[in-house]
Amino acid sequence: MSKAHFGLIGLGVMGENLVLNAERNGFSSVVYNRTFSKTEAFLQGRGSGKSIAGVKNLQDFVKQLERPRRILMMVKAGPATDSVIQEISPFLQEGDLLIDGGNSEFRDTERRVSELESKSFGYIGMGVSGGSKGALEGPSMMPGGTKSSYKAIANLLGKMAAQVEDGPCVTYIGPGGSGHFVKTVHNGIEYGIEQILSEAYDLMKRVGGMNCDQIADVMAFWNSTEELSSYLVEITEVCLRATDPDDGEHVVEKIMDKAGQKGTGLWTVMSALELGAPVPTIYSALNARVLSSLKQQRVNAQEVLNGPEPQRFDLGNVENGMAPLMDAVVMATIASYAQGMELMRLASSQYNYNLDMPSIAQIWKGGCIIRSQLLKRIQDAFTLNSQLPNLLVDPWFSGQVNNRHKGLSIVVAGAMKAGIPVPCLSSSLDYINSYRTSRLPQNLVQAMRDCFGSHSYERVDKEGVFHTEWLD
Ligand code: 6PG
Repeated sequence: MSKAHFGLIGLGVMGENLVLNAERNGFSSVVYNRTFSKTEAFLQGRGSGKSIAGVKNLQDFVKQLERPRRILMMVKAGPATDSVIQEISPFLQEGDLLIDGGNSEFRDTERRVSELESKSFGYIGMGVSGGSKGALEGPSMMPGGTKSSYKAIANLLGKMAAQVEDGPCVTYIGPGGSGHFVKTVHNGIEYGIEQILSEAYDLMKRVGGMNCDQIADVMAFWNSTEELSSYLVEITEVCLRATDPDDGEHVVEKIMDKAGQKGTGLWTVMSALELGAPVPTIYSALNARVLSSLKQQRVNAQEVLNGPEPQRFDLGNVENGMAPLMDAVVMATIASYAQGMELMRLASSQYNYNLDMPSIAQIWKGGCIIRSQLLKRIQDAFTLNSQLPNLLVDPWFSGQVNNRHKGLSIVVAGAMKAGIPVPCLSSSLDYINSYRTSRLPQNLVQAMRDCFGSHSYERVDKEGVFHTEWLD
């Protein structure tokens, strides 16, 4: 029997779909899963009649692969990934390539790359986005590691990836853990947009008195506009329309209001804080999830803590696409992307990743969870100016900000008066207002720091470092 082109370890839903994708694109495959019954079930089910073989152990797995071997691991991030690497390493040879397609912490990938560099095989840490459907039909992929290793899989990945007008949604990201870093930032932006759309839903429901179908109609309209056309708006409409077959009521209203997370949003915020990148929209989305999980405390607190009664204010109407609310959602979405791009720009110089910003925007245009029409504008902005300090000052984006600032302000002010939390919308407004303010009150923070701790300060009227004896 001829040897297989591609090997996959880990038959979770992502793994299954990725191997089916590879096979559909002409790469005969061999699969291994720790529990063999799962492999059997796959081969008898979705994998039957295809050029996919299954094996019981890693030794047979590597034997059935053509050289150089191309092996994709789709296993749980963390210790499970380390243990697979440890088990398979002795069987790998010069030129073979091991790819981690899970949501690994980028520092783990940095460590693995440097540990495995001493061995003869190549190692790639690759972010994969698009959920289970994307994995099957064409995901967006963010591979990082040595460039020569990437070249060995460029053809395979190029065929498996989603395709957009200017090519496949995959590119070499950079060295070390850069692929997983970029995927982490992708997820931080994802957290931001999910929370922004949830806040818009809450406002339409509680302020506008709208039902799920009416809100879904607004999402459908938003999805038809250049500024908001995106996968997340599209699935928000789907989620809002879905009904429970048992009673015909909207499923979304029956879902517990506690958001889970697997860690990538937290890593985005941690890296941002370390690198000195402001990411308040993303941070607010993360905090909103954490706070939402305190369900029982919130239920109790509602009995004790007063606030204004929810009251109506101008959110626009269905005919004008809820104009001020749409302004708010567009602005906050732009803020979320702007913060993610800025974080990558800083990481690129700090970690020597040499990230190509237009290419990252390009591979996010299809396949991934944050795909949207705005990414074409983001790609254009960084093509025009590769050193763009912030998306907000690109001519097209600054035009959006200037036109929509008022709408966001009306919505945030109204929500505050009505006592409705809008953490992502309000922090986005503060972010934009701070970024466009040439003189912030941090002069006073500096004065206080110098007063109690002699931390010194700079002055606006002369060069140097100064200290004042503030106290007698
Ligand atoms: C993707 C997603 C995916 C992520 C989930 C869950 O790009 O396909 O980002 O990789 O794991 O969305 O993330 P949370 O559980 O942290 O929300």
